Amino acid sequence: MTTTDLPALTPQLDFVRSQFPALTGPWTFLDNAGGSQVLTGVADRVRDYLVQTSVQLGATYAVSQEAAARVADGTRAAAELINAADVREVVLGSSATQLVSNFAQSFGATLKEGDEVIVTSTDHEANIGAWLRTRGAVVRVWRPQPDTLELQLADLDALMTPRTRLVCVTHASNILGQINPVAEIARRVHAGGAQVFVDGVAYAPHRLVDVQALDVDYYMFSFYKVFGPHISLLYGRLEHLLALPNINHNFVGEQAIPYKLQPGNVNYELTYSLRAITDYLEELGMRVQPGTQGRAALTAAYGAIAAHESMLAGLLLDHLRGKARVRIIGPATADPAVRVATVSFVVEGRASSDYPQALDDHHIAIRYGNFYARRLMDELALDPVEGVVRVSMAHYNTAQDVQRLIAGLDAVGLD
Ligand SMILES: Cc1ncc(COP(=O)(O)O)c(C=O)c1O
Repeated sequence: MTTTDLPALTPQLDFVRSQFPALTGPWTFLDNAGGSQVLTGVADRVRDYLVQTSVQLGATYAVSQEAAARVADGTRAAAELINAADVREVVLGSSATQLVSNFAQSFGATLKEGDEVIVTSTDHEANIGAWLRTRGAVVRVWRPQPDTLELQLADLDALMTPRTRLVCVTHASNILGQINPVAEIARRVHAGGAQVFVDGVAYAPHRLVDVQALDVDYYMFSFYKVFGPHISLLYGRLEHLLALPNINHNFVGEQAIPYKLQPGNVNYELTYSLRAITDYLEELGMRVQPGTQGRAALTAAYGAIAAHESMLAGLLLDHLRGKARVRIIGPATADPAVRVATVSFVVEGRASSDYPQALDDHHIAIRYGNFYARRLMDELALDPVEGVVRVSMAHYNTAQDVQRLIAGLDAVGLD
């Protein structure tokens, strides 16, 4: 993929920014991997649901029927976004951490003593810790190459054994920005007779997820990083979900998917709001590539997002590469096939905390720390509290945002 093959976002930037009310304020948000800004349409739908249809679902009266239809439509929007074959493959929950923890409770009950689960040391702790806590699971760790920090497929092959049941891997690291070859990983994992569980939290804001094209077994991400509210999605292939043990009330049937994996059920108003995300992305796609609609429009939108974010990441990376004391933690290229626009770095002789705190005064929001990728900090021999400086861009950011950031970083000192 080169950025010249992708549709341009810049002519639509005014439209894009007009959809995110917080962008009219004084802040330049460059901590989007922590949480993106929220679409007006999302906030409107949350309010509409609460003021118009805040009743229990499943009753005979019309308002309850309308509420159920709204929740069903939001769930369908989530399924369409990831190209799930069946809406029942979408499990919703309060956070990715909660979903993986619920999933581990269910999947873990199917493990036999000595069954193995592979995790990576580049992942967010959400996709690691749940397995360490799962009784009976032997956890093996897929570590990156020390120099490139890439996860090598040959190392995965070497870790897999006939006892491997599940491989848990991030689609894009929330620190490195590096995109992992998930389709190829899934192919190898399946060839070894195991299943793959992908953490797409740091990927889904930047690229269109297609669970069928990736041929993954499980995939999760959080909508509060994808322009929406605090609600998260776990995709599971239909036959896998049907086979998983129920973690809901005892009387909930094994066939009741996704309900048997949604103890306490979903948040109705937030689920309803999800349609506003796909509506927005589809409109963006139709604008950047007139004549498209549906999934083709989503593809066009994310193509433009990839190109624009690559341009933004390139501005920052070009600047950082010229600084002898700066170490970029992750790929130094802005190539959209290699990374998303989440850029981390450390500066020799400086504390990572120096930078965000100084930039606060300029209303530029970035962040430092380990971002719950504690094991990656260990791999890098970095202080787990100071960690890295992380700048995470979204498609609504502008070149001026990055230039302002660069001026701020320079003022603190990168040389
Ligand atoms: C890569 C990655 N995975 C998982 C999570 C956890 O997501 P949640 O806050 O929805 O539990 C995060 C949060 O930042 C993340 O960046």
